[in-house]
This record gives sequence, structure tokens and C-alpha cells, in this order.
Amino acid sequence: MIRVGIITVSDRSSRGEREDLSGPEIRRWAERMGHSVEAESIVPDERERIQAELIAYASRGIDLILTTGGTGFAPRDVTPEATLAVIDRAAPGFAEAMRHRSLAITPHAMLSRAVAGIRGASMIVNLPGSPKAVRENLEVIEKAVPHAVELLRGRAGDCGTPNC
Ligand code: MTE
Repeated sequence: MIRVGIITVSDRSSRGEREDLSGPEIRRWAERMGHSVEAESIVPDERERIQAELIAYASRGIDLILTTGGTGFAPRDVTPEATLAVIDRAAPGFAEAMRHRSLAITPHAMLSRAVAGIRGASMIVNLPGSPKAVRENLEVIEKAVPHAVELLRGRAGDCGTPNC
């Protein structure tokens, strides 16, 4: 069972001024995939708050931490910077694949500065903020997630075998 944590990054949703539709979108995806949602939170677009949440989730042994929002060009968009500050190793393939596939849907995909990386045994992936973008980006990464988690748990066999 893959343990998932969901962090919605939004000033307005954190103040209760806008309903968070993207966190629930991730939850529905996780449940459809058969993953277990272990934690969900909404934080404002503040670097320290995002970093603290990412660190707390990773220390709880969550396999996959998905953030939504704060990846664009607006002055307060700092989710990628917060993520880069807490990861031990970068996992650029996830963000590369999401942007590549998303560009076929909208040229605005190039405005997402989303990053992905590994902290301890947890993988962190930034998703853009809209529910539509969340759906589209999760569809890109969903097939690679189980093998990534297996590798992080140290349980995967040699890559290059038929299982890989
Ligand atoms: N990617 C996909 N697949 N679909 C989308 O609709 N929206 C883009 C982009 N990535 C989008 C997408 C837009 S409009 C922006 S501004 C950036 O993600 C950043 O979004 P964020 O600031 O909400 O994180």
C-alpha cells in the first residue's frame, strides 16, 4: 500500500476564503489507484510553512507527498523553492514528463515551475494548482509511482529485469 500525503498550497484556501478543490481531486485519484491517504493539509504560500509541512510528512513515513499550487510565476508562488530546500536528491524526470505531456494540452504548461525530489524515503512531487491540471499531471506520473516507491523502500529487484 502506497501512503500518500496531500498538501494544498493556497493563501485563500488556507484562510477559508476559497474551497479547496484540488486536494480532494488528489484524494480521489489516490483512492482510485488503491493508495492510502494518510495526511492532508492546507497551508498558505509561505516558504517556511510549506517546508515544515513537507518535513513533517516525510518524517511520518509517507511514501508520496503531493503538493498542489504555488508553482507559477505569481510573486507568492514559492512551492518549488520550499521543495528544493528540503529534498536530499532531485527527481527531475517527474517534472520533465509532466511539463512535456501538459504542453500538448496547453502552452501555459511552461509556466509551471514544479519540481520533484526525494527526502529520506519519501518522494515529493509538485502539481499545479487547478483541479484540471492536477488530474492531467497525475495521469502522467501514475504508472511510474509504484516502481519509484519500491526503489525508495529498497525492495525492488535489479532494474533491467522484465519486472522493471
Ligand atoms: N498543466 C496542465 N496539464 N494543465 C493546466 O491547465 N495550467 C498551467 C500550468 N500547468 C495547467 C498546467 C498554468 S495556467 C499555470 S499558471 C501553471 O501550471 C502554474 O500553476 P500554479 O501556479 O497553480 O501552480
